[in-house]
Amino acid sequence: MTSTSHPHPIGPGGPASGPDTLLGSRIPRAEGDYRWVKLWGFPLRAMHWIAALAIVVLVITGLYIGNPFGVAGTPQFGPLMSRVRYVHYLAAVFLATTALVRLYWLVAGNRFERLPALFPMRPRDIKNLFEMIKFYLMRIGPDKAPHYLGHNPLQQMNYTLVYVIAGIEVLTGFIMFGLAWPTGWIHGLTDWMIPLFGGIQNVRFLHHAITYFFLIFVPAHVYLSFRADSVEGGGTVSSIITGGRFFEPEHYYEDEDA
Ligand code: HEM
Repeated sequence: MTSTSHPHPIGPGGPASGPDTLLGSRIPRAEGDYRWVKLWGFPLRAMHWIAALAIVVLVITGLYIGNPFGVAGTPQFGPLMSRVRYVHYLAAVFLATTALVRLYWLVAGNRFERLPALFPMRPRDIKNLFEMIKFYLMRIGPDKAPHYLGHNPLQQMNYTLVYVIAGIEVLTGFIMFGLAWPTGWIHGLTDWMIPLFGGIQNVRFLHHAITYFFLIFVPAHVYLSFRADSVEGGGTVSSIITGGRFFEPEHYYEDEDA
């Protein structure tokens, strides 16, 4: 099969180069006429890694802020608390910046990154959403599951939910931050939202509770990415560094002509 049967941006074929062994073990080669497809642009990949680092820092510092130690007897919770809060706010600015860049990239990115790629849009994608659920729950064979170059409909819904949850975390964080600087513009922008949450305690509770979502999501996301890489052999993990992944041209990909 030649690359002309697939529209742009599918790349050249041929086996990947590299060593045949790693730490004395033979690396099993994926065999076949693999092609490479560019999925994720530099802004998306850069924001992914900045957000990942920011979230790790925010979870650790946030858990400390919520249940601090080593602060007894000091009127302002001591220098450790203020330093930890400073790092929390600094990481928060990085996370909020990645959110703004991602929002822009929903319009400016390629077709795998734009707003419609966040939801199953066509009737056949909605049908495939249920096919993917069936694939995971009933373990139908991988060949019966629909193939996608970018995210399949179930992944789209998952990652969109993660964006929404992260957005609520950023929002509740900035609402609380506004209270620490009541004459500032952040308070001016956010104070009207406090009654919508039913009071500041609910804002704080939500902010705290979502931390546990990230405590579960981050390790699960890392595990599932490495698992997909090893099961599918397409370079899922490297795709968020290099921007692309390998695929077998003999399959039909539901989003190759979307
Ligand atoms: C993944 C992202 C985040 C996580 C996991 C996280 C986690 C936490 C946790 C666990 C707390 C302690 C809550 C408590 O008192 O029980 C906290 C406090 C706080 N967070 Fe976050 N946070 C995140 C993002 C943000 C963002 C984006 C902001 C925006 C400025 C922010 C601002 C705050 C503020 C103002 C407090 C209260 C600090 C204080 O009382 O001194 N957080 N965070």
